[in-house]
Amino acid sequence: MSSLVGQHIVLGITAGVAAYKTPALVRALRAASAEIQVVMSTNAKKFVTPTTLQAVSGQPVRDDLWDAKAEASMGHIELARWADQILIAPATANCIAALAQGQAYDLLTTICLATEAQVVVAPAMNQRMYLHAATQQNLSALERLGYQIIDPDHGEQACGEFGPGRLPDPEILIDALTTPTVDPEIASVFAGLSVMVTAGPTREAIDPVRFISNHSSGLQGLSLAEAALNAGAQVTLVAGPGVPACNPAINRVDVISATDMHTAVQNNLHGVHLFIGVAAVADYRVAKPAEQKIKKKPSDQSHLDLRLIENPDIIASVVDSDQELVVIGFAAETHDTLNHARDKRQRKGLHAIVVNDVSDARIGFNSPDNATTFITDNAEVSLPRQSKLAIANNLLQQITDNFGTELAGLKDS
Ligand code: C5P
Repeated sequence: MSSLVGQHIVLGITAGVAAYKTPALVRALRAASAEIQVVMSTNAKKFVTPTTLQAVSGQPVRDDLWDAKAEASMGHIELARWADQILIAPATANCIAALAQGQAYDLLTTICLATEAQVVVAPAMNQRMYLHAATQQNLSALERLGYQIIDPDHGEQACGEFGPGRLPDPEILIDALTTPTVDPEIASVFAGLSVMVTAGPTREAIDPVRFISNHSSGLQGLSLAEAALNAGAQVTLVAGPGVPACNPAINRVDVISATDMHTAVQNNLHGVHLFIGVAAVADYRVAKPAEQKIKKKPSDQSHLDLRLIENPDIIASVVDSDQELVVIGFAAETHDTLNHARDKRQRKGLHAIVVNDVSDARIGFNSPDNATTFITDNAEVSLPRQSKLAIANNLLQQITDNFGTELAGLKDS
């Protein structure tokens, strides 16, 4: 299971009675920190209003392929690219039939054809319609096309009949989104692989109440840890302060300072096959943090000197360990990004480095999105702006393509 923090979810709502339950679903998705774009079919608006959904999602609802104003801000193809996952809940028999045939007759069906994202379909309808051979055949066809189907609940229906066809509770639908399917090639490399990820900032104490730190949110490292877990790896996450909660199946070690992080990495390194240093580690720490709060100086002394000393380079210590493993670093740069990163990769002896331009506020530190370039000895692949989870999954693909054989060898040794 991975977290939905920062994930881009398109929620498609079609014309089933259960559409009245979708505002609660949107609220639950937002409580899981996902970003939601609601897309409604025309008839869905007979069951729930776009105004309600706009209020709970915080975004204007999209419902028309031909709405020039909405298309100008994010066209349907951009929306299809924006989505990390698409959830259709409730999905009517009609919508399921259209998707099974590859029809693109409205905004939602068009996005489903144009996307590379996982599409999760939650059928909800009268039990006879659900059990009809045509609907069952269409659902099987959708599964063959790679759609993920969530079985409806069984029980009393709005029409008074009893049987399968009720929309499951939001927790069940959200569970399906937190266990996305994994590319078989990536799964074959990551299954049973031992992966360590460092994430977030470090804090270097000045005195008991003040510290030196940086803007890292830890979201990119967390997304990588969860993507690796979802792909079958055993994951240790060494997390600096403020990194959001993660899946309990991850072995999480919380640390504060760079020296703590260094110790935690060294203590847990044994048997690790892949190390990914995403943390924004402070290069320096205060040589002698004060034991008591430093008082403001009298006004005739307008400066305060802090002596800084170098922190251990954690990733360099991993490269220098006797252990054979694949080591990947991150480089947050503000200018001449590629050259600095190429140089850093060589200097630190890393298998690969992932560079991002943190001077661009739309990506990088504290943003749900990122855009990076993956640099190895002989390849440079740029990954355009997308959510940090999508970047993480793309990085697993790059790692599989570039180091899959090496990692398989390390796993077997
Ligand atoms: O800070 P710098 O740009 O050199 O960081 C590049 C890489 O080195 C990152 O992967 C970061 O996690 C790692 N690093 C580290 N220990 C440090 C400084 C950086 O592991 N003291």
